[in-house]
Amino acid sequence: MKKIVIAIDGYSACGKSTTAKAVATVLGYTYIDTGAMYRAITLYFHQNHVSLTNKKDVEKALENIDITFHKNEKTGLAETFLNGLNVEGEIRKMYVSENVSQVSCLTEVRRAMVAQQRKLGKKKGVVMDGRDIGTVVFPDAELKVFMEADIYVRAGRRQEELLENGQLVDLSEIIENLKKRDHIDSTRAESPLRKADDALVLDTTFLTLEEQVDEVINQALSKI
Ligand code: C5P
Repeated sequence: MKKIVIAIDGYSACGKSTTAKAVATVLGYTYIDTGAMYRAITLYFHQNHVSLTNKKDVEKALENIDITFHKNEKTGLAETFLNGLNVEGEIRKMYVSENVSQVSCLTEVRRAMVAQQRKLGKKKGVVMDGRDIGTVVFPDAELKVFMEADIYVRAGRRQEELLENGQLVDLSEIIENLKKRDHIDSTRAESPLRKADDALVLDTTFLTLEEQVDEVINQALSKI
């Protein structure tokens, strides 16, 4: 069967990664969480006090960053490693969410990550989710999906996820963070978040996870 690239973009907390993971499992594809890559860089910058306004510092830091994904044998899911250390839990914390959009605006950061993402998807058979996958990373992706959902639904889902990871965060704080990230992500100069002209729009406000996954799989099967 022909292998394709599935690009899933959209606003924060619309269910992109949950859908992408499930689609990848069903199709036997590799799932690549590009948001996790920007989060890992943000964590490194935070831990090493890298100044975002100092281009040289940023470039030097990027040379020392190695991001990889490894499968957790128990859950079967890929986890993010930063310089050999598992940071999957740490990168989901609120302090990382609060700073990631400022880091992902930087030209040097985007250049490095886009190059790595293209390498990871070169052989196809990937489901990649993010903000610029269908527009910049893989503009020729065979299937592009743009996900959106009501802000309150998104915030509620994110709150549940955080709670599952032991973090109790106010709904208003989450809404504030999602709005701020959406704004920065869609207004930045470098590869802003926008729907690719040929992307399928999937509003997940009233959809169950199963329905979201089915929709993407049906679309994918029509291209394979
Ligand atoms: O997908 P997630 O919410 O984990 O992404 C975290 C942040 O990483 C986004 O708010 C955005 O600033 C950045 N990002 C990006 N480009 C991508 C994926 C994520 O700029 N392809």
